[in-house]
Parts: sequence; C-alpha cells; structure tokens
Amino acid sequence: MKGKFIVFEGIDGSGKTTQINELSKWLMETDLIPEKNQLVITREPGGTELGKSIRSLLLDTSKEKSPDSITELLLYAADRSEHVNKIIRPTLNKGDWVISDRFCGSTVAYQGYGRKLDIKLIKDLETIATEGISPDITFLLDIPVEESIKRRINRKDDRIEQEGREFLSNVCLGFEELCEDSRWKKISAINSIKNIKSEIQSEIKKLIKNE
Ligand code: TMP
Repeated sequence: MKGKFIVFEGIDGSGKTTQINELSKWLMETDLIPEKNQLVITREPGGTELGKSIRSLLLDTSKEKSPDSITELLLYAADRSEHVNKIIRPTLNKGDWVISDRFCGSTVAYQGYGRKLDIKLIKDLETIATEGISPDITFLLDIPVEESIKRRINRKDDRIEQEGREFLSNVCLGFEELCEDSRWKKISAINSIKNIKSEIQSEIKKLIKNE
C-alpha cells in the first residue's frame, strides 16, 4: 500500500516549519504509520541534492542573477521533477509517508497569482513534473499579509520575500482559490501553536478513517 503524502503551504512566516515538526513528532507517537514504514520530511525548492543548487539560484538576491519569470517557473518545475522522481515517488511506493514543505500549490499561488503567469502553462508543467503524484492532503496555514511582514521583521528576506505587499496579497488570493479543493484544509495560523497542531491532527485522523 502506498504511503500518505502530506503538504504544508502558506506565505512566509505562516509557521510551516513549526507545524511540520509538531506533526512529525505526533505521528511518530501514534500507530498511524505502519511499524515497518518511515516518515520522510522534505521541502520545495531544495528537497534533493540538485534541488539545493536550484534553490540557491532561485532565492539569490543579487540583481544580476535575478531570473526572468518564465525562467523562474521552469526552475521551480525542474526542482519539482527531481524531487518527485528521486524522493517523493520512491518513498510513497515503499509505503513510507512524506511531509513536504510546499508543493505544486506554491507555483500556482506565487508564479500564477503573484507573477501573473498563465495558469494553464503552470498546470501543464505540473503534469510533466509530477506524473500524476498528488498530495492526499494539503494544509494551508493562513495568515494575513501584515502578520507575515511582522513575523519576518528580524529576518533577511530572500528574493521572493522581497516582492512586497501587493505581490503577497495576490499570492494569498491564489492559495484562497486552491482551498476550494476538498483535499485542501485551510487552518487559521494566527491561533496558538497548540490549537493549530490539534486541528491538523484531527484532519489527519479523518483522512485515515475515510480511507
Ligand atoms: P521557503 O522559504 O518556504 O522554503 O520557500 C522559498 C520561496 O520560494 C518562498 O518565498 C516561496 C517560493 N516558491 C515559489 O515562488 N514557487 C514555488 O513553486 C515554490 C515551491 C516556492
């Protein structure tokens, strides 16, 4: 039996890392993952060795290296293809579980709604890169743009984070639309860590129960 594929999405500062850590701790304590199987935590961009190089190209803040928006899209797609082929598919085929910090939803939200690239083109590249692999459940950790800016005040922004308020508002709109899919769960991430954590746990229990 295939393992479960769980994805976390959200704008920067939404607390994905914290909740991924909380969920993995909890999953290791439960018997939801069969004893012989493992949990693999990964991310996009940068989940593979090649992907780490692609990530540093994508997030480099130097002006001379700033990619054209189609180049940017193709780099995210290349990172994803490598990630699906080297990590996600082989892991799920073994029955192991995967939690990924970001996946295809980020491209729709950032490149589609943020950069205003053609959604059909994005979806076509998604089909090529994923070859039919899609998450069992995606959590959108939802925070207002102002909260994201506030939470990142003492952090050095990467190239995408430097885009500013309007760009981020459009990205949020993209995530909002993606949440119309029943496999997406929107969680208000301005709640306490404890509340967010238990909401996520109850969605995972539901997912397993409804198999
Ligand atoms: P991270 O800081 O959450 O690891 O993500 C790196 C940045 O890359 C983040 O600002 C969102 C952006 N991104 C896209 O623009 N498109 C994508 O497809 C992905 C996966 C991330």
